[in-house]
Amino acid sequence: MLLQVKDLNAHYGPSHVLQGINLNIAEGELVALMGRNGMGKSTTLKSIMGLVKPTSGSVMFQGQEVAGLPPYKVALAGIGFVPEERRIFPELSVLDNLKLGIKGGKIKNPNDPNTWTIERIFHHFPKLAERTQQPGGRLSGGEQQMLAMGRSLMGNPKLLLVDEPTEGLAPIMVQEVRNVLEEINKAGVSVLLVEHNMKVALSLAHRVYLMSKACIGCEAAPVEVRDNHELRAKYLEA
Ligand SMILES: Nc1ncnc2c1ncn2[C@@H]1O[C@H](COP(=O)(O)OP(=O)(O)O)[C@@H](O)[C@H]1O
Ligand SMILES: [Mg+2]
Repeated sequence: MLLQVKDLNAHYGPSHVLQGINLNIAEGELVALMGRNGMGKSTTLKSIMGLVKPTSGSVMFQGQEVAGLPPYKVALAGIGFVPEERRIFPELSVLDNLKLGIKGGKIKNPNDPNTWTIERIFHHFPKLAERTQQPGGRLSGGEQQMLAMGRSLMGNPKLLLVDEPTEGLAPIMVQEVRNVLEEINKAGVSVLLVEHNMKVALSLAHRVYLMSKACIGCEAAPVEVRDNHELRAKYLEA
């Protein structure tokens, strides 16, 4: 297993928002984490990344315990995070935003074909290649999402945690972001994806975890989520 989360608990003050999360991701997998608002999906990603400090439990990544480590150490271990807010730097150019994703200021093994470089990012994100000198803040929502993903990839993660990448995007950009996620995964990056858009999530995911309040309620194949109305009524529909 690439990632093994065991009995992970997290609190915001007195509220116990993650109550024993168990999930795993194999190398090469794209796994969707779905569920209604407020169930704890974002907190699950943040707890894996160290942005929320888990109160107990284990996060094993490539055989290393990363639970409780500060976010930069989790990133150094090989996990990238694309937050819902994207957090690009609006005044900085597209190119400079991408360069900020390089860990330790220097790309390791730039000649290895599996290494993410600026050139490789531009190959996968041609929209960004057209606007290298534009300030990040001038990009459309979908382009900013691509930039946020590109910046994370510059850190050469083995696993990318992506929170609601298509939220608020125009339909054509939803499709483009979906396709880029598929490409990234095919290029060898494992992905844990939180995604509300059922079509996007089910067309990409190899497996789905369905969250109920503070817990993972069950694991299902994408076709089961698509075809099983009871499952959808229980975990997804309003
Ligand atoms: N910074 C915070 N402080 C206090 N409570 C929070 C904070 N962030 C989220 N919560 C609460 O924690 C629960 C889980 O939130 P979240 O992980 O954002 O859910 P989801 O991503 O599934 O919508 C919700 O009840 C939410 O209101
Ligand atoms: Mg969320």
